[in-house]
This record gives sequence, C-alpha cells and structure tokens, in this order.
Amino acid sequence: MDNKEQAAEILLSLTPLEVGGLKEGINFFRNKSSGKNYILYKDKNHLRACKNMCKHQGGLFIKDIEDLVGRSVRCTKHNWKLDVSTMKYINPPGSFCQDELVIEMDENNGLLLIELNPPNPWDADPHPPEDLAFGEVQITYLTHACMDLKLGDKKMIFDPWLTGPAFARGWWLLHEPPSDWLERLCQADLIYISHMHSDHLSYPTLKKLADRRPNIPIYVGNTERPVFWNLKQSGVPLTNIHVVPFGTWQKVDQNLRFMILMDGVHPEMDTCIIVEYKGHKILNTVDCTRPNGGRLPEKVDLMMSDFAGGASGFPMTFSGGKFTEEWKAQFIKTERKKLLNYKAQLVKDLQPRIYCPFAGYFVESHPSDKYIKETNTKNDPNELNNLIKKISNVSTWTPQPGAVLDLGRMLKDPTDSKSIINPPSGTKIYKDSWDFESYLKTLNDAIEDEIFLRSSWIKEYFTWAGFKNYNLVIRMIETDEDFNTLPTGYNYLVDFLDLSFPAERPSRDHPYEEIRSRVGVIRHVVKHGLLWDDLYIGFQTRLQRDPDIYHHLFWNHFQIKLPLTPPNWKSFLMQQV
Ligand code: FES
Repeated sequence: MDNKEQAAEILLSLTPLEVGGLKEGINFFRNKSSGKNYILYKDKNHLRACKNMCKHQGGLFIKDIEDLVGRSVRCTKHNWKLDVSTMKYINPPGSFCQDELVIEMDENNGLLLIELNPPNPWDADPHPPEDLAFGEVQITYLTHACMDLKLGDKKMIFDPWLTGPAFARGWWLLHEPPSDWLERLCQADLIYISHMHSDHLSYPTLKKLADRRPNIPIYVGNTERPVFWNLKQSGVPLTNIHVVPFGTWQKVDQNLRFMILMDGVHPEMDTCIIVEYKGHKILNTVDCTRPNGGRLPEKVDLMMSDFAGGASGFPMTFSGGKFTEEWKAQFIKTERKKLLNYKAQLVKDLQPRIYCPFAGYFVESHPSDKYIKETNTKNDPNELNNLIKKISNVSTWTPQPGAVLDLGRMLKDPTDSKSIINPPSGTKIYKDSWDFESYLKTLNDAIEDEIFLRSSWIKEYFTWAGFKNYNLVIRMIETDEDFNTLPTGYNYLVDFLDLSFPAERPSRDHPYEEIRSRVGVIRHVVKHGLLWDDLYIGFQTRLQRDPDIYHHLFWNHFQIKLPLTPPNWKSFLMQQV
C-alpha cells in the first residue's frame, strides 16, 4: 500500500504591503502565476479566505451590489450568493457552505493562503497501466446513462434504465436500447447505480432483471439518503445490494477495481465512479454537479459525463412575473451554452484520452407534455464534442445504442476506424413508441384511493413530511392533464411556519408558492411517500412564486429528505372509522 500524505499547498502569498492595504470587508485577489482567484474577508477580529470559485459550477464571484453592508458576493454564472463573513451561501437560502482556506502569517508579516489537500484516494496502491489487447476492454452504450463494460472476463453495467418512464411519467427513453439488453443485464458480474433518481435507479428495469436474476450484485455509494431507500415498497426482489464507502478501492479481481466518489453539491444523494482495469482508468461523473468537490483524476483513459441540461422543472414549468415565454427561451439558450462551455472546460482541464457525453438521452414524449418537449431543449452531444475537439486533443465519442468502443484499440490509435463499431445501418436508433398506458394507469390508480375520501389526509401527509418552522405558504392545486384546476380535486393552503392549513393566506408577510400538480401523480406521490422529484424534475407541476425566490430548504426537504418510510395510511384509515 502506497500511503500518500496530506499536502499543504500555498495558493497565494500577500506581501506585508498588500496585507497592510487590506480593507475591511471583501478583498479580491488573483494569483498572477496560476491565474486563480481568491477572496479575503476582513473585519475587526477575523480574516477569512476562500477560493473565488462558486460551489455550483465553478463560476467567478463579483461584488454583490445589492448588499449594502459589503459581506456578500454574487456568482456571475447563475447568481448564487455567498456571505463571505460566514462562508455560507445566502442564495439559495439555507443551502451550502464554502470551503475555507487556511490563513498563515509568514515570518515577514506577509500572508499565505493555504489549502490542505488530502491525498487523492485513487492514488492509493497505484497500478501502472498494462498493454490492453484488442477486444479486451469494450464499452457498449445501451441507453441514457447505461453503459455495458467488458473488462477482461468481467462485465460491469452502469445505471440501467432500459424500459419504462423516469420521474413519474415525465421522462422517456430517447434511444432504442439493443434488443438483447435484458440478457446483457442478466450476464453482468456487477452493476453500479449512481443515485436514486429514476433515470438511474429504474425500478421497471430492475423488476425485469430481478425476475430473472434477483441476486445480481449491485453496488451503490454510502449516501446519507440510501440509493435503495424505497426498495421494499417497490416490490422488486433484489437480494444482493452492496453499499460501499466513498473513496476506497473495491477490488473485484487482480485486474479490476472501482471506487465510488461523492458529489460536492449533493453529497447526500449523488455519486460518481472510477473503474480501473489493468491500471487503465474510466471516470464516469454521471450527473454530479461538482464530482468529488472538483478534485478528479487527470489523464484517465475514458471519461463520460452528463452534458444535456434540461433535467429540471426550472424554468419551463414556471409562470407569472418574469417567466414569460421569451424570458424562458432566452434563459434555456444561455444556460445550455454555459453548461456546454463548463463541460468542455472540465474535459480540457482533466485531459482524458477519450470523452463521451451521455446521461442526457431522454425525451418528454407523452403527448400531454408537448410544450415541455418543444421548449426544454437539450444540448447536442456533437456540438459539445466539436467544442472539445477545438480546444483540446481529446478524442470524443458520440454514442449510438449498441455502439462499441474498443479501449485498447482506441488508445493505441485514436484514428483507427475499427476502434468504434457503430450498430449496422438500418438499426433503429431513436424510439418512436412508448408504453404510456400501463405506466399512467399505475399512477392514476391512486386517484380513487380511499385515503383521499377524507380531507384530513392533508394534515396527515404534511405532518408525516416533517417540514415546518419556515416562513412559506403554498397553495396546492390538483389539476387535469393540462394543469387546469380540477373542480373535484383538492385545493388547499399549507402554512409551513406553524404547519397549519388555513382557509386564507395569513396576514403576515410571507413568501408564497402556487403548485399545480396532475392529480394522478400527486396522489401517487402522497400515497407512497415518494420524493417530489417525480413532480418537479418530471414536469408534473406548474409553479408560480411570489416573491421569485428558490426556497432551497423546502424543495431540498421534499426532494431529498422526506422520511424513509411512507405515511401509515392504514392506521390513518382505521382512525377515521
Ligand atoms: S451559480 Fe455559480 S456556477 Fe452556477
């Protein structure tokens, strides 16, 4: 075992003159030789310092002109705000903390900004790369974020979503998976599932797999919200799930090992993975916003990541105020471009030998979601790959379902035309039909559930949800397919300050959100105690908010932190008789 030690890196040094010139409040600095930027905050008693790099997607902070007391900075990318006097983000409110740098005085009264770098976990027990025979490592793209990896005599599969919808009924597969996908899954030696979102943890897919091979080994990271938190309720009889610690090599055999890493923005639920075969690394950052807090191995052999955008109800499900069609269209255009540049820059910085954009191949294909499908445009993988080619020497791969990349061949000669074998011409690439009805029926079955015969379910549900002492009032409205108020549906207020259900909005000052949800989906979510990402990410709501603020604590609670066991409707119903 090669134990690498924690290293202290000096990121910036200030001369005594510069230290003397520090003003009270926010000071911006740039290290001219590294080109990196830093922020120092000074008050009477303290000095605090951090990188000038937003936790979200690495944007640059500038002075926040709306902040009259001079404590906060604003990110130039998506307007997150950081209070540098506390190192806490204030927009989104109640969300994240910024990592601080260590400040030390040097012997001449200059200042040093120091980062304490833990050793990179993947550097432990290094395996030097060995030559790969042609055909020894083959990566086959199946759909969306699902890759089938042949690694010597082992087979590993990432994130199998191969049938059915994701996020209630909002997302459907764009690509037609190879017809033998179930065989492939059944033959895998191990499966990695990156996180609990249903385009990665697909119960319809796992159900088919478990019917054939319930004891297939599945590996997930040890996230605070367990990936399989809902396994029992799902009824899918998987019996061989391994929860592994972050940042340690998991040995499969003498040639193959893998390491799961956490996301820096959503460590409670999101992960990414490094797979290493005979010293060759494959890095799959999946959907992580800041995979491993931005510390990733460079020069891996193959890197794959998301690229598409559009995986959120924001802004296309919003209306009122600034959310005009023009504003939303412009926002989508700008954001997609930013994401494309961010991904291209990340690839350029990490210099993998080969890069593959994936995990963005979904479509809002249900006819009722035509508006979302037409407006929620995604990035084009070819556009990203062209951008990467322009700014780096990285080889790129735009995958088609069933296409196979031969890693040994490609590493030897990236121009070898046999290193990527595309499916034969005439193979169906895009899906043109989806089994909407059976999945919608499952959701809509909840509409008639006897829970909803009594309005007291509302109090029962929100008490179970456990979110309160927060100044926010929401109006929940059940709707038809087109988000029109359902005359027979529930339409009620929830005041989260004291968890009450008033008939009218309170007279105190309060932020307000109106959430219209398709009745089948909201009742399904309520009945089964599911997370609201089905509603929000699945485009099953329409929202208005006043003022226009993202209530991070509220949405984070309902999308990630709801109790692990569903509401006890049985006992609720018994109390009603
Ligand atoms: S808000 Fe800073 S990068 Fe997105």
